[in-house]
Amino acid sequence: MLAWLCRMRQHYLALNNLLLNNILKTLRCLIVGLEVCMAASHKPPLGSLALIAIVIGLGAAIFAYTAGWFSPQRLTPDRLVAAFAPPTGVALGHRRNHAKGICFTGVFEANGAGSELSQARVFARGQYPVVGRFNLGTADADAPDATVRVRGLGIQISTPDGQQWRSAMINAPVFAVSTPQAFYELLRASHSKDPDAMKAFAAAHPEFAKFGDWAKNGPWTGSYAEERYNSLNSFVFVDGSGAKHAVRWSLLPVAQLVAVSADELAKRGPDFLEQEITQRVASEPQRWTMVVTVANPGDPTADPTVAWPADRRSIEIGALTAQQVQAERDGPCRDINFDPTVLPSGMRTSDDPFPAARSSVYAKSYDLRTAEAKDYPRSVTGAKP
Ligand code: HEM
Repeated sequence: MLAWLCRMRQHYLALNNLLLNNILKTLRCLIVGLEVCMAASHKPPLGSLALIAIVIGLGAAIFAYTAGWFSPQRLTPDRLVAAFAPPTGVALGHRRNHAKGICFTGVFEANGAGSELSQARVFARGQYPVVGRFNLGTADADAPDATVRVRGLGIQISTPDGQQWRSAMINAPVFAVSTPQAFYELLRASHSKDPDAMKAFAAAHPEFAKFGDWAKNGPWTGSYAEERYNSLNSFVFVDGSGAKHAVRWSLLPVAQLVAVSADELAKRGPDFLEQEITQRVASEPQRWTMVVTVANPGDPTADPTVAWPADRRSIEIGALTAQQVQAERDGPCRDINFDPTVLPSGMRTSDDPFPAARSSVYAKSYDLRTAEAKDYPRSVTGAKP
């Protein structure tokens, strides 16, 4: 047995030496140039060439795998982004979803209560600057406001320790689907020419019913200021002792909700939401209280279609105030990617599969739209907030 082990070790060392020699030769050839190298060695460095070919081939294979070329069915950021494209064509220079929006700046005022759940600086009592964006859940940057059911809010809160908390929330009480794959299928069904595609999707995804019920029967409002915005995805807060807490959060409007039918809203013009919030904030800053809901052990954290029971502990941790509104074209939110995985230390993603998927898709959308700036030109020459 010992002799066999010794022999194996010798083989292993010999192989290592051979590989090392080849790698060194290859490196030398790459540095001094292939022709000089061949002339010097008087024989073609076949092993080295094979090694170069293997390294290049391996790199290409890894690239092709990550791009999804070997598995046309695999969900990739490219495929998800492409699935948003409306039949009327992509709104170049704009976000690939939630394409219509308006910027605001303001402040997040922490009351200190969040520090019990997370050591993030943003929960220490104090005021922190915010750049945000009110938006509509559509890929059409010119969609009439009354035609879009989902309204969203993106915020970026900055703290003096150089960290940021970014969050993109929506007014629906639950998300439409349980997994990124199902979201892709929903997009495909909603753009399908088959009139039964959505019916078939809903039948295959019973979890869609709760969202569908809200979309049909939930109240519409005439203002971004009257909406409640929910994280829906679950995250983990880590407190000062290192203990972890599974949480979701929401922004609850201080403004009174006034229900208005979609038909009535349609009469207010295609951009009534932007006009209303601009005037409303100019006459008085608008506020939302931020509430963190803590899961009980066993509550589902990986499925945003399932709301946690209403009796779960919720803690008011501060308030958001929108103080100024700016048009998106030249506004400070234009070039922000409200990536939900940009979190300060003291917050982490959970087993919820959405934030990671969202992060990769938002990055793709961001890359595309910022490269298309000429298709959405700033109105002031050189204006770049
Ligand atoms: C797999 C699921 C999802 C996909 C593929 C997706 C995709 C996208 C994309 C492509 C954008 C534009 C990003 C940019 O260019 O900056 C976006 C923005 C947004 N998404 Fe999602 N999303 C998903 C899930 C969600 C969920 C669960 C929520 C809310 C709970 C949400 C809320 C928002 C909001 C509010 C924005 C606008 C942010 C802004 O103003 O920049 N999304 N989404």
